[in-house]
Amino acid sequence: MFNIILFGPPGSGKGTQSEKLIAAYGLKHLSTGDLLRSEIAAQTPLGLEAKSIMDKGQLVPDEVVVGMISSALDQNPQAKGFLFDGFPRTEAQSIALDKLLKLKNTEIGVVLALDVSEEELVSRLLNRGKTSGRSDDTNESVIRARIAEYKAKTTVVANYYSTFDKVVHIKGEGSVDEIFESLHSEIDKRMS
Ligand code: AP5
Ligand code: MG
Repeated sequence: MFNIILFGPPGSGKGTQSEKLIAAYGLKHLSTGDLLRSEIAAQTPLGLEAKSIMDKGQLVPDEVVVGMISSALDQNPQAKGFLFDGFPRTEAQSIALDKLLKLKNTEIGVVLALDVSEEELVSRLLNRGKTSGRSDDTNESVIRARIAEYKAKTTVVANYYSTFDKVVHIKGEGSVDEIFESLHSEIDKRMS
């Protein structure tokens, strides 16, 4: 089993690159943002609670996303590996994930961190907001709040995995294919 965390701020290309990586490596894609948006679409109590938080650009509580990831791991016993996108986002989530993986006799193989400037992030997300239907993309102040939340609570995740020597920084600007090639070569170095 080889498990990857695709890490980076809102708009850094995690979802875009995840699609290409799961196709290339046959990994199971676990995006907590996508899981939460499915709950919203199904109008579950969890979805309704999460929506008001997501619309402000804030993080939903750790126990909510850890619970979703724990069920997803249990539901996919045959997976060749997992690609985590948008999770973990706090140090508590990182510690919880490591425990869950340990119970399954596996661990994180690499954390690939996409580096993109703040102005590029805002411009990508405002542009996507014209068509995505994502309520957290339509307003620049919510986009800035998501980036502020990332800086305040999520950058520590990279520090946490750095202590285990698992983090690789990748230039996240340029063409989608160029960035994919960089990710691909870093994974191949570590998978063998
Ligand atoms: P989530 O869904 O994870 O959103 P996000 O992190 O804000 O990031 P995005 O999905 O917006 O960006 P991305 O990095 O996937 O980039 P993408 O490929 O789409 O989370 C949403 C909310 O859910 C959070 O705010 C929080 O409330 C909650 N949540 C989720 N997980 C949580 C957790 N673990 N804990 C607590 N709360 C949680 O690309 C963005 C745009 O750029 C697209 O239009 C794309 O086409 C374009 N693009 C991509 N690559 C390039 C490129 N190379 N050049 C130019 N444009 C590009
Ligand atoms: Mg995404």
